[in-house]
Amino acid sequence: MKIKDFQQYVLKLKQSVGGAAMLNPDEGLLLGSPEAEVKGVLTAWMGTVEALEKAGAAGCNLAVVHETFYFHPREFAGNFQPQHLTWRANRRRIEAAERNGLSVFRLHGTLDLICIYDDFALALGIQDVKPNAGWDRVFPIPETTVGELAGRVKRLFRLERVRMSGDPGRRVRCAGLPWGGLALDSNLSYMQRCIELGADVLIAGEADEYGFTFAADAGIPLIETGHFVSESLGMTHFARRLAQDFPGLKTIGYADRRPFEYRLFWRSERISLTFRRRGIKLPASASACAWKN
Ligand SMILES: [Fe+2]
Repeated sequence: MKIKDFQQYVLKLKQSVGGAAMLNPDEGLLLGSPEAEVKGVLTAWMGTVEALEKAGAAGCNLAVVHETFYFHPREFAGNFQPQHLTWRANRRRIEAAERNGLSVFRLHGTLDLICIYDDFALALGIQDVKPNAGWDRVFPIPETTVGELAGRVKRLFRLERVRMSGDPGRRVRCAGLPWGGLALDSNLSYMQRCIELGADVLIAGEADEYGFTFAADAGIPLIETGHFVSESLGMTHFARRLAQDFPGLKTIGYADRRPFEYRLFWRSERISLTFRRRGIKLPASASACAWKN
């Protein structure tokens, strides 16, 4: 199979779930040649330097990524400029891909449609997902409190913690799912649509403070899982589907990692507490230093 054949395969899948017979404008081959023979595929939520190195080490020559490969300023979202290729993050990605002999193919909304959105709903235990029924869906859930629901989400996705807004005691029975980045400032209209469709709670992928504030002022509780958390199940599902449809092809579903970690600065905290207990007032700059430890 050549990369151009892979594209045709994806388009057939897309049509089988009611999508158009074309890729979206932000999708397609971003690096490499459509004539290249595919020896192995690594699917990744994002084509990070780490994922690209892993693809090369595993003998794959095609990375299929869901998210942005070339970073660019928001104002150029629809108008990528060649100068952005010189940004350090972009350059390091390109170098990693070239060092490992990789082509990079992006599937964004197409994979959302094929499996990512439905897989997020299924992972939440939603009974009546109505697969492939478009984006305008909200989901009846057994009546519960927001606090119980947040705890359930945390357990289901094995999260260290979840961020949420709203009254934990509030009873809810209909969830909107702004998966991926649909609870971010840049995509607020999707949360608005869920609310119009009757959602009384939102279970999101990644949210930011604008998103949380929007939900709070709309009076709708919001529970955040994470961007890749809500989408990587769909990505590994796609990898399994590829392995099934191309039995001889090496296929790896890369286990993406959250790009940050939670840290508790116990030592610094103990120092500040000791000072406070002894009645010693630390200057503002000293306590700021203590937190850097
Ligand atoms: Fe996304």
